[in-house]
Amino acid sequence: MKIEELLKRQEKPALFAPGSAVMWTDEHISRQLLAVHLDQNTDLASRKTPVIEKTLSLVLSLMGKEPLDILDLGCGPGLYTERFAKEGHRVTGVDFSEYSLDYARRSAEDKGLSLNYVQGNYLHLDLPEQSFDLVIMIYEDYAVLNPQERSLLLKRVAGMLRSEGVFFFDYPNDRRFDERIVPSDWECSPEGFWRDTPHLCLSRSFVYPEEKVILMEHLVFDDSRGWESYRFWNTYYSRERIEGELKDAGLRVESWHEDILPADSVWTGDNVTFAFCRKV
Ligand SMILES: C[S@@+](CC[C@H](N)C(=O)[O-])C[C@H]1O[C@@H](n2cnc3c(N)ncnc32)[C@H](O)[C@@H]1O
Repeated sequence: MKIEELLKRQEKPALFAPGSAVMWTDEHISRQLLAVHLDQNTDLASRKTPVIEKTLSLVLSLMGKEPLDILDLGCGPGLYTERFAKEGHRVTGVDFSEYSLDYARRSAEDKGLSLNYVQGNYLHLDLPEQSFDLVIMIYEDYAVLNPQERSLLLKRVAGMLRSEGVFFFDYPNDRRFDERIVPSDWECSPEGFWRDTPHLCLSRSFVYPEEKVILMEHLVFDDSRGWESYRFWNTYYSRERIEGELKDAGLRVESWHEDILPADSVWTGDNVTFAFCRKV
């Protein structure tokens, strides 16, 4: 390990500068992530089953009953897609994690469910226009995108929705912005979440108060790959700000929901808002 290389990484990164590696598509990390998605003891990566069911019954009650064409952006192992399919809806799930989609495909087959899974990046994939009644994007994934990606995503969503179709998603609101800053931490282990070989992980967060953005960065070192940085950018929103972004894409918020997440979790209705938006 060259200490100079670590010294170079001390500075605060420029806003939205990408890390050197992506967590979701790394083979070893994907395996760890799938276990976290499915773990009923944690709300990390995916929420627990009762919360998923509450989210689904809310959105379906707002949509009405007839069979819908639904698109799930960042569907992970298919925890929402399968439930929609069981209710008789036609569902497409998109994710760039092959590992999660392999699991989702096997699980749908085991349960005899017909689901359409597409592997790729939802910012660039060729997806059909004006074909969906409902597009969902769950687990605050909208807020990790940079402004150009957010604008592109919303335009794509509006293009894929049928007339008066709905985009339903959640985002971290800015009410408790200051409490979201995580203290620096480090971990050295023979194997673990980031690597299956001995590695060191240094974690820290940076605040960009004007833009209401927090960067969580994990710097991971191992002997074969050297230093890699995993960056998670999160934008915290007021209702006015998110309404503005949606409006630019031709989407209007019809209702806000802050009573879905349990009060005893890290992420609660106090700091996460769901928005039910109609294409105008
Ligand atoms: C936090 S997980 C949430 C999964 C699922 N929505 C849930 O709540 O159970 C985010 C998922 O989005 C996927 N993802 C992130 N960025 C993506 C992109 N640009 N294109 C496709 N999938 C993406 C990841 O692979 C991961 O499965």
